[in-house]
Amino acid sequence: MEIRIDSLDHIHEAAREFIAAMGDNTVFAMYGKMGAGKTTFTKAVCECLGVEDVINSPTFAIVNEYRSDSSELIYHFDFYRIKKLEEVYDMGYEDYFYSGALCF
Ligand SMILES: Nc1ncnc2c1ncn2[C@@H]1O[C@H](COP(=O)(O)OP(=O)(O)O)[C@@H](O)[C@H]1O
Ligand SMILES: [Mg+2]
Repeated sequence: MEIRIDSLDHIHEAAREFIAAMGDNTVFAMYGKMGAGKTTFTKAVCECLGVEDVINSPTFAIVNEYRSDSSELIYHFDFYRIKKLEEVYDMGYEDYFYSGALCF
């Protein structure tokens, strides 16, 4: 499946398409160089899920926690600052990934 975003004006359409295709999956990895649009897309997806909190890049927090409009937990990670795998183990990534909550 391919979702094309021709302009930022259409990013919420793309986000809704993405959400419709998520199925039962809960953990989603965004790959792309710095500036590729990972945070922007994740933010659009969270907005379409009804997140009302201000969504910033969690670059300094590694993980941000939001609630959807149905009060479901959503975790938004930014692994940009992670240099060593141990740091991800230390932050307890498994508790998030296997929680059943949506993880981006
Ligand atoms: N689909 C898109 N089309 C055009 N510009 C975009 C798109 N997605 C993101 N941008 C712009 O690119 C810049 C970097 O996006 P960002 O989401 O911060 O990247 P990343 O998180 O991958 O480093 C932002 O200024 C954003 O507005
Ligand atoms: Mg980012």
